[in-house]
Amino acid sequence: MAEPSPPHQHGRILILGATGQVGRELVRSFAGAGELLCPGRGQADFASPESLRNLVRSIEPDLILNPAAYTAVDRAESERDLAYAVNARAPGVLAEEAARRNILLVHYSTDYVFDGAKTSPWVETDEPAPLNVYGSSKLAGEEAIQQAGGQYLIFRTSWVYGAHGHNFLRTMLRLGSERDQLRIVNDQTGMPTTSIELANATRAIVDGARGGRFGPAEKWTGLYHMTCGGSTTWYGFARAIFARAGALLPKPAPEVLPITSADYATPAKRPGNSVLSNQKLQSRFGFALAHWEQALDDALSLIRSIGAN
Ligand SMILES: NC(=O)c1ccc[n+]([C@@H]2O[C@H](COP(=O)([O-])OP(=O)(O)OC[C@H]3O[C@@H](n4cnc5c(N)ncnc54)[C@H](OP(=O)(O)O)[C@@H]3O)[C@@H](O)[C@H]2O)c1
Repeated sequence: MAEPSPPHQHGRILILGATGQVGRELVRSFAGAGELLCPGRGQADFASPESLRNLVRSIEPDLILNPAAYTAVDRAESERDLAYAVNARAPGVLAEEAARRNILLVHYSTDYVFDGAKTSPWVETDEPAPLNVYGSSKLAGEEAIQQAGGQYLIFRTSWVYGAHGHNFLRTMLRLGSERDQLRIVNDQTGMPTTSIELANATRAIVDGARGGRFGPAEKWTGLYHMTCGGSTTWYGFARAIFARAGALLPKPAPEVLPITSADYATPAKRPGNSVLSNQKLQSRFGFALAHWEQALDDALSLIRSIGAN
């Protein structure tokens, strides 16, 4: 676990996408770490990447956290230009401005940069080959950040969910309240990861990195896989949710039937195996996120405490 940090150690912290799943948790996990500046879409429009340059220059941050992204995987197939502006060019501008100020940029990417064909967990040095526009645009964002030449941490994560926002857990709780039977894809394997775990890990690693615990920036700047432990399919994830949901559903849990991706056609193709190895994160920072089942228990406890809606 991270040691307690001195208050305001990170100065002015610019958080983009603070209304999203991960952004919201970052606002919580970085509370007290500095002055949080969280411009919304109106002030920070990722669809106009160049406008972010002036925003960063006027805010003069000491640290940039960027969980903002175009995350509508299926819609991206028909909104390619917008997906690339938000996921590739805007992070590139942020990285250029971070490099200019010599400050750290933290960014998130996705397991969907891989084609899913490997049978063992993907490592950071594996060749990406995205199957869809979302994955290609996120890969282009990684490359733009790497080319800017500054300090960065890119955390590739997967199957993000939590108590808030649009995600699989909340969709299952809604559908499970309405239906007696659900058909869920069982041939895509991945690592469900909570926004809570991601934000807590980000805080601990940023504290350590900027506090000098991991050596000079050249030692730790880079791309890391960051997911909860273990793996499952969407079907396995759905069953785990309903096994634990109890009183969160107004009726008995639905029957969950396994289907294949071919039975559930979507505009965007998705990888069969997108399990990521977290070995590099663990060996570099000595940090591991909770197992996905533990994280699911925690997310459901949070939903019980705040109400399902
Ligand atoms: N969700 C997943 O399953 C998943 C999986 C792997 C990786 N990731 C990555 O993890 C990171 C966080 O994802 P998330 O699930 O927290 O995303 P999310 O809940 O969809 O939130 C996206 C955020 O980006 C903002 N945004 C979108 N388009 C924008 C635009 N044109 N201008 C300004 N802001 C814009 C949204 O603002 P509004 O509230 O105004 O819409 C929101 O704050 C992203 O990098 C994502 O690619 C996510």
